Amino acid sequence: MPLVPGRQILNEAIKGGYGVGAFNVNNMEQIQAIMTAAVETQSPVFIQASRGALKYANLQYLRHLMLAAVELNPDIPVAMHLDHGNGLDSAKTAVDLGFTSVMIDGSLKEDAKTPTTFEENVDVTKKVVEYCHKYGVSVEGELGTLGGIEDGVGSGQIHLTDPDQAVSFIQQTGLDYLALAIGTSHGAYKFKTAPTLAMDIVKKVRGLCPDTPLVMHGSSTVPKDLRDEINRLGGKMPNAMGVPVEAIQEGIKNGVAKINIDTDGRMAITAAIRKVFMEEPDKFDPREYLTPARAAHAKIVAERMRQFGQAGHAKDYKPMTLAENKAYYESKAKTTA
Ligand code: G3H
Ligand code: 13P
Ligand code: ZN
Repeated sequence: MPLVPGRQILNEAIKGGYGVGAFNVNNMEQIQAIMTAAVETQSPVFIQASRGALKYANLQYLRHLMLAAVELNPDIPVAMHLDHGNGLDSAKTAVDLGFTSVMIDGSLKEDAKTPTTFEENVDVTKKVVEYCHKYGVSVEGELGTLGGIEDGVGSGQIHLTDPDQAVSFIQQTGLDYLALAIGTSHGAYKFKTAPTLAMDIVKKVRGLCPDTPLVMHGSSTVPKDLRDEINRLGGKMPNAMGVPVEAIQEGIKNGVAKINIDTDGRMAITAAIRKVFMEEPDKFDPREYLTPARAAHAKIVAERMRQFGQAGHAKDYKPMTLAENKAYYESKAKTTA
């Protein structure tokens, strides 16, 4: 199966009433882990790279690693996605690399820190949509800001999405799917106590824009058992809570189709590596700690795939090409002109 435009994966998810995990990657082992989980559970999947990931691994390394994943697993629909693009240039880079889905995070300025105005967000998102759709590449926009700061990215402040603005944002930009701010944050330190997410925002946007798949960022559950294991093995992760899986499942029932997960994978990898370092200090071959790390990452991704309901849906549909998706955008533009 070739790479699939993100729009198709999420439209199928909405039709089927399930969510699709979008898992962050920085290296070969993470990509392999996600594909192992996708094959085991027969799931469609988003593999996503942040700008930081593309910088860390180098654009071409990451591109070829993702393409290898697709080539070796022809039965799995995969969207190659840019996470938190910060402007037209990052979108162009992703399109050039062959990504089938691009996020433009126009809720923040290009510095990825300062919140934008609604008009600035519309402006940059519209430009990215116009550019990407010419290549059949789907686009995710974001309205509202999450909390937390990862790798210097993020305003650190939460501004919940205004559902009425979301309607106008979707109409003005022509985006394919929309990330909402409903109280989640990026990273491992989301909440001190059990959170209450603003699910009413998801329901309202869903009611007003039933055809637009919704996206939840900052959706790691930050498992206590992994934090305890990391700390038992010499780590120092403060107590904090993540997003309960039940809250994500409620989001999925109300129109959330794409669920972004990075931190849970990072924690699974770290716990596994620490275990080897602490319990078998004579080991120095990277394969001896990266093999269990990769397996631990695959395990948590497979668990999320089952929890989100995407498991078993890999072969539900015929994959669309970017050319077919481009033709879809062209015909939509004609009917709305
Ligand atoms: O959105 C945040 C993701 O977890 C990516 O994080 O920018 O540290 O790669 P990163
Ligand atoms: P977490 O930090 O909760 O895994 O969120 C990841 C994310 O939203 C990537 O865009
Ligand atoms: Zn995010």
